[in-house]
Amino acid sequence: MKTVIQQLTEAFGPSGYETEVTDLIKEMVEAYADEVRTDVLGNVIAIKKGSQEGRDVMFAAHTDEIGLVVTFIDDKGFLRFANVGGVSVSTLVGNRVRFAGGAIGVIYQEKGAWKDLTLDKLYIDIGAETKEEAQKMVRLGEFGIFHREFTDLGNRLIAKAMDDRIGCVVLIEALKKIQNPKNTLYFVFTAQEEVGLRGARTAAYGIDPDLGIALDVTLTGDMPEAMRMEVALGKGAAIKVKDSSLVVHPKVKDLLVQLAEENSIPYQMEVLERGGTDAGAIHLTKAGVPSGAISIPTRYVHSPSEMVDIRDVQACVDLVVALAKVDLTGIC
Ligand code: CO
Ligand code: ZN
Repeated sequence: MKTVIQQLTEAFGPSGYETEVTDLIKEMVEAYADEVRTDVLGNVIAIKKGSQEGRDVMFAAHTDEIGLVVTFIDDKGFLRFANVGGVSVSTLVGNRVRFAGGAIGVIYQEKGAWKDLTLDKLYIDIGAETKEEAQKMVRLGEFGIFHREFTDLGNRLIAKAMDDRIGCVVLIEALKKIQNPKNTLYFVFTAQEEVGLRGARTAAYGIDPDLGIALDVTLTGDMPEAMRMEVALGKGAAIKVKDSSLVVHPKVKDLLVQLAEENSIPYQMEVLERGGTDAGAIHLTKAGVPSGAISIPTRYVHSPSEMVDIRDVQACVDLVVALAKVDLTGIC
């Protein structure tokens, strides 16, 4: 599983430009799904057929990561940029960016900018000495991502884009394990979550599922002087109660808790005060879809060094596998 995590987290995939990631995923799931298709927005949908009495369950994990886009190139060849998704300014200074075409640069700040740091006081140095030289290395409007390698610390793993490649890994590993599911499963690797849950919206409309489950990272409260939050690394799959995009359907929340207990899967309850997931878009599809989320506890979300615990990832895989088998009569 660690190899898959490394491959997917090191791939290039800012919102709207996810094909390097989805090409890898398609290769990984092909042998295990009954059908794999890609839609207009770039969502990859892997289908595993269930029995007649089963329901249609849509699982969603997003393939895109937060990034940057070049907005301006000055006379000396320095770049100015805007964010793609929720980039937090405090994680940028001194970090490196890799652009779609391969150029690599360092982000730095103007003099005195640290006092009130905003994106427009930051620039990217790609080693060019003139505007013309820079223009040969990157184009205006080119997207970039954090340039960071995967690190294995044993149980704990660090990488950029754990949000949400780790959710993709959970779905891939679950798909590998599931045989003859009761329910028909749509494993959707969604595009453009970080810019507004866009891929999940169209995918859910097309599938029209009976139940929707997002797999995504959530914050933790277990670091020094962290915000008050019960979720911690190593304590199991996080079953969402609510976030800013969704109040989890009580029946879905209770079902996930019941499945975790019955299968002795470590779990914890998650109340996320700010942030959302694809389930926020799925549950508002057509006449409404009962939806919930299984979250992977993650430290330093939206920084170049997001940390997860492999035991939590395993617990999330086990919970998805359990849900594939269960009788959903009376739930949805
Ligand atoms: Co995110
Ligand atoms: Zn995410």
